[in-house]
Amino acid sequence: MTKKFQSVKGFYDVLPEKQKLFRFFEDAALDLLDQYGYHEIGLPIVEPTELFVDSVGSFTDIVEKEMYSWEDHLNNDRLTLRPEGTAGCVRAVIQNNLTYNGSAKLFYRGAMFRHENVQKGRQRQFHQLGVETFGIPSPAADAEQITFLDRLWKKLKLKKISLVINSIGDIEDRKAYRVKLIEYFEKNFDQLDEDARRRYKDNPMRILDSKNKDMQALLNNAPNLSDFLSQDAKDHFNELQKLLLQNNVNFSVNHRLVRGLDYYNRTVFEWTTNDLGSQGTIAGGGRYDYLVESLGGNSTYACGFAIGIERIVLLLEENTQLTTFSPEVYIVNNGVGAQAFALEVAEKLRDEAFSVSVNLEGTSFKSQFKKADKSDAKICLIIGEEEVKNGIIQIKLIRENGAQTSSDVSELIHNVKKFLS
Ligand code: HAM
Repeated sequence: MTKKFQSVKGFYDVLPEKQKLFRFFEDAALDLLDQYGYHEIGLPIVEPTELFVDSVGSFTDIVEKEMYSWEDHLNNDRLTLRPEGTAGCVRAVIQNNLTYNGSAKLFYRGAMFRHENVQKGRQRQFHQLGVETFGIPSPAADAEQITFLDRLWKKLKLKKISLVINSIGDIEDRKAYRVKLIEYFEKNFDQLDEDARRRYKDNPMRILDSKNKDMQALLNNAPNLSDFLSQDAKDHFNELQKLLLQNNVNFSVNHRLVRGLDYYNRTVFEWTTNDLGSQGTIAGGGRYDYLVESLGGNSTYACGFAIGIERIVLLLEENTQLTTFSPEVYIVNNGVGAQAFALEVAEKLRDEAFSVSVNLEGTSFKSQFKKADKSDAKICLIIGEEEVKNGIIQIKLIRENGAQTSSDVSELIHNVKKFLS
């Protein structure tokens, strides 16, 4: 028996009905990105493994256990399918000197790969739309991105979405905080779960994000990072909040929000919904003012975010009635020379920007008429052997009681325009 293949676990086909929602999302987002002056950059899916280790961080879930990495023996390279887009974008900015005139506002979209446990809203191949602003120290850059997202959700008519923000300070602030946090966890070691015991020294802040119910009391009483912020970091955060209020963006502050990637400083934020079960984060981001320099570039302020497109599509599926595409003209054809003639006629109509579906199945007129009817086209053109011989085409107005008329091929464009107007 021949083997029937299945797609790899966590990797999905996006069937046409769903793909329409991807496109609906992208159309809305791309229009808005233009309005805000972000420029698209195309980035490779494969990057050197070390790029992610050095940026996302070696003690993060992503780098510890979720990357698709391999050794390319032909070149002795260690490579990885990108688990996220920021690292590659920063690499590209440095490599191509994209901040030569001070700042850059970029976005990218495409597939990302993480070997995670699969569940609703969590896949191993998923798609992100990411936005990154380089070279702007002011919280205006953070505010602009967050306001963009607020506007996008409104445009997509997504409801019940909330924004949480926090400031995790600068490197020096976090160093001081880290020491206190490790001390606190050491003192309460018996209350830590296995995962926390393993990482409390390497990545103690990440433990604050733990969903383990048994640790919540311990985490609630942990030292608070906001008490360790420098005045500059505090000012930045206060100014951001002012800007958000000024632009009518609702938010709440959660001092325990730290996010799962190591490169952040100061602002971090997440947009969440309760409508997707446990995978409710639809977008997340923040500042990463140290990353460009740590990857070999000049010191450059930066902030960004990424949207998880599958999660948006899940929300759209419940809320959005899309008008499905239907051609304006449907051509049925049967008999010697009819299909070739139909293709020729269709191209002529497409030259005039009509949308045209040609039935290529070679089945009976009866079955083709059924499909024409289903297609929702307004006009059906009928081409049989007679029509090929005479250069005359039958026009059936399928939405007007099937009234039928005929047209010389030279008059066809004119007649189709008349009937469609
Ligand atoms: P992230 O929070 O890891 O951030 O991912 C951003 C979004 O991607 C998440 O909020 C979620 O919607 C979606 N996502 C992540 N993993 C999965 C998955 N396995 N299946 C489906 N969707 C998923 C970043 O990736 C950062 N690079 C964002 C950023 C840009 N920060 C600064 N600039």
